[in-house]
Amino acid sequence: MLAGKRVLLIVTGGIAAFKMPELIRRLRERGAAVRCILTKGGAQFVTPLTLQALSEDKVYSELFSLTDESEMGHIRLSREADLVVVAPATADVLARMAAGIADDLATTTLLATDKQVVVAPAMNVQMWAHAATRANMALLESRGIRRVGPNAGDLACGEVGAGRMAEPMEILGAIEAFFAEAADSSFSDRPLAGLKALVTSGPTYEAIDPVRYIANRSSGKQGHAIAAALARLGAATTLVSGPTRLADPAGVSVVSIESARDMLAACQAALPVDVAVCAAAVADWRVKAAAGAKIKKAGGKPPSLELAENPDILATLSAAGNARPRLVVGFAAETDDVVANAVEKRKRKGCDWIVANDVSPNTGTFGGDRNTVHIVAADGVENWPPLSKDDVAMRLARRIGKHLAALRQ
Ligand code: C5P
Repeated sequence: MLAGKRVLLIVTGGIAAFKMPELIRRLRERGAAVRCILTKGGAQFVTPLTLQALSEDKVYSELFSLTDESEMGHIRLSREADLVVVAPATADVLARMAAGIADDLATTTLLATDKQVVVAPAMNVQMWAHAATRANMALLESRGIRRVGPNAGDLACGEVGAGRMAEPMEILGAIEAFFAEAADSSFSDRPLAGLKALVTSGPTYEAIDPVRYIANRSSGKQGHAIAAALARLGAATTLVSGPTRLADPAGVSVVSIESARDMLAACQAALPVDVAVCAAAVADWRVKAAAGAKIKKAGGKPPSLELAENPDILATLSAAGNARPRLVVGFAAETDDVVANAVEKRKRKGCDWIVANDVSPNTGTFGGDRNTVHIVAADGVENWPPLSKDDVAMRLARRIGKHLAALRQ
């Protein structure tokens, strides 16, 4: 995907600049050409020689340097790239980009470029939270600039919170996502047009009595993002969702349910479809005999709840005979042996692909905005870099489109 692509990497003055050699290596490994601009601040944290050796290209730093200008010139520098990445992007460079200031090679190039720009902000938590930075970032995003990170965690300044630069592999993921989208829109805007998709999302609520229920902490973010991506690529998409705080995705027909049994019934009513993606966190059990009236405390022993197993929606859709979607995709949330467990789950459930995600507490997957997944299919396993849930969704929707197109031939 990155072979032959030209990335202009602008390294500004944050401690995270020391991670850029890693990003350059990963890009070079994938066949991308990397050219670096290093600001004065950036050069305090990483040497031009390191960037030059790894990128195998000259490192540019001076706007009015005779050699830099005669060899390249800031306009050519920005035009001879397919993508511009600013990493780390300090609060200062974001502010200068937002204001259109062009007083060094980095900002002049950013103002002159006609290419997509991706920024990876990195700064102290208060600086990131400051109204000025928020406003600058919002303005840049409204102009189409993409952002990856920052993440929450320990900061170099000793404080804790949002401001850590996204890891090199996440930045790589955002770069790959950009090129994948660009490649896709060049062959077709709507590769899923004419196809029908079904997605399950969110938790289920299992009633104990009319006011109490058993549930889980699923946010529904990944499932909703997948429904949105499938619809964006042209599929007529039905989203069957348990209760979430999320808005209905644009262009998607949403069926709101509470229990697993209602979810199954709504899914069956949506058939036939070409593809089903089961991303919901369906409760494994329900209360066998939910009370018709509120259970009273009444001073005695607490009630005991007898549970019954819920239907497995993924397995049911996978075994739906003639009504089976041509492609059935399940999810597996694991904390260890992620891939091995998913391989086993794929066979047990009878689905075609399992999207296995690592939900260990340190990954921030559960309820968070990022996801690191492995696609387990009959012919092997594909490991994806850490991506935003939106990028996972778009990449999955695109893969679904290619697979269904191949089946049709
Ligand atoms: O068995 P487990 O819950 O780990 O499997 C996860 C996958 O199965 C997810 O795709 C989930 O949506 C689906 N599932 C389902 N119905 C259930 C339980 C899980 O569709 N009752």
